[in-house]
Amino acid sequence: QRPVLRLLSCPGTVAEGLRRDEPLSGSAETGSEEKTPEKKFFEVQNERRDQAQRTVLIHCPNKISEKKFLKYLSQYGPINNHFFYESFGLYAVVEFCQKESISSLQNGTHTPSAGMEAAIPFRSRFFNLKFKNPSHQASEPAAIQFSNQLPPSSRKLFDLLCCAKSVDDQLNTLLKEFEVTEENTKLRYLTCSLIEDIAAAYFPDCTVRPFGSSVNTFGKLGCDLDMFLDLGETGKPSTDKTLGNFLMEFQMKSVPSERIATQKILSVIGECLDHFGPGCVGVQKILNARCPLVRFSHQPSGFQCDLTTNNRIALKSSELLYIYGSLDSRVRALVFSIRSWARAHSLTSSIPGAWITNFSLTMMVIFFLQRRSPPILPTLDLLKTLADAEDKCMIEGNNCTFVRDLNRIHPSGNTETLELLLKEFFEYFGNFAFNKYSLNIRQGKEQNKPDSSPLYIQNPFETSLNISKNVSQSQLQKFVDLARESAWILQQEDQGPQSPSNHQPWGLAALLLPSRVSTKSLAKKKSKKAASERVKNLLESIKKNRTENLTST
Ligand code: GTP
Ligand code: MG
Repeated sequence: QRPVLRLLSCPGTVAEGLRRDEPLSGSAETGSEEKTPEKKFFEVQNERRDQAQRTVLIHCPNKISEKKFLKYLSQYGPINNHFFYESFGLYAVVEFCQKESISSLQNGTHTPSAGMEAAIPFRSRFFNLKFKNPSHQASEPAAIQFSNQLPPSSRKLFDLLCCAKSVDDQLNTLLKEFEVTEENTKLRYLTCSLIEDIAAAYFPDCTVRPFGSSVNTFGKLGCDLDMFLDLGETGKPSTDKTLGNFLMEFQMKSVPSERIATQKILSVIGECLDHFGPGCVGVQKILNARCPLVRFSHQPSGFQCDLTTNNRIALKSSELLYIYGSLDSRVRALVFSIRSWARAHSLTSSIPGAWITNFSLTMMVIFFLQRRSPPILPTLDLLKTLADAEDKCMIEGNNCTFVRDLNRIHPSGNTETLELLLKEFFEYFGNFAFNKYSLNIRQGKEQNKPDSSPLYIQNPFETSLNISKNVSQSQLQKFVDLARESAWILQQEDQGPQSPSNHQPWGLAALLLPSRVSTKSLAKKKSKKAASERVKNLLESIKKNRTENLTST
């Protein structure tokens, strides 16, 4: 029984060795002498992009024989690798060895017969596999291994943390459980590549690249997918004087400002995703934001996507964080734990507001690690001095130059344990003079605050901006109170693991529990609520008395 692959709409060598979960070379912990050269950020991006372009996404029937599935698909060309995952159904990600296999597969597929609905013809690399005769599909017992795309439950994390051997082991366990996996990374690049196919209907030479935590080494399973629509050089008027007299009027249309151009581009792409994007649902155009974006859910991958354009500096920030995250294995372990701690205490939120963002928290950890003695991370100024001519980068008048070759940065001689760093992080920021100083990762030192924002973290590239401008005084105070409490908990505790019979949370697990600070503030809120209820009742009764008095008069 030959299955039928259905085209859901739009066109279209795994570089192994890109895994970021291997121990990092030259780290203080491994002290390894055999260094595997680290790949540059753009090399990783290009290889992953190439992989994604040779990959298809297939919605499969629930019961399927993996062997038959692969045999059937390999008639279109050799397969490099594949994996299955579950998200509102069973999906397969299949990477062919050659790009040509994709068109051969597309040519061999049926377009769904419209039935009651009308179809919009648009060739994609997202297919639906349907058996002509359903009784044949489960002829072999299904023993498919699913790749997990979600983080562990709090319960599982707690159990794992309580069973760890030390606080250092706890931080590394949390990292291992939460970091994006090889498969999840592939799915992220594939999703960008599928969106690129759609955007290419308007801008044939565009590229859609992931940025933010999907690529900066700080990505957690389940985090959003930030996408950058790159229109490349065709989007910019040419200044080359050696060119002829013709201006490509047909290719350009002028609008009053860069921001309006961005809004118009995102507006049409948003429409396009909404109308023609297979699996793209809940498309919202948020064009009046400081950084205009299109937000949507890519249902088959389960990713919440934020698509922006003209946002090249954010791409550069991702590259900088990639460098910091790859330099020393302690960086990511610490950032993941601090982010989880902040999330557990509602210091961060998925809703935009006056809270600290994950991006700001990461900057705080980087700043803290620059302040250790000897420093664990170099300053951005030092990374700039290590840059060569090829690393030179100016974006909209901002100097974004830094060394991109990780192998040219010396590993730190600092050997402090994660346990000590965690404790010291809380102590450092529990006592930091936020009212006076700003954090500056360019120079790796605090500076007088240029304005009265409660928390001031200088934007590393647009140096007159504050990346934590949104943070309110009360949110900062909550962060300080919790940091002090956590430092205190870590000092009080005997940090050794508990005996198996004693299931008391210890170390990092104790820090992720509801805090006394927040319980206190909750109690305060409750008593405030009770007080306001009393005031309300009192006012009501006064009003009632008054009305009664007036009526009687
Ligand atoms: P997650 O919370 O895991 O999504 O972390 P993230 O780093 O991806 O953060 P987010 O999705 O909020 O933003 C994506 C990227 O945009 C970040 O990595 C930064 O490069 C950039 N970015 C976010 N917020 C700011 C900001 O306030 N200022 C600047 N300059 N860049 C920002
Ligand atoms: Mg993000």
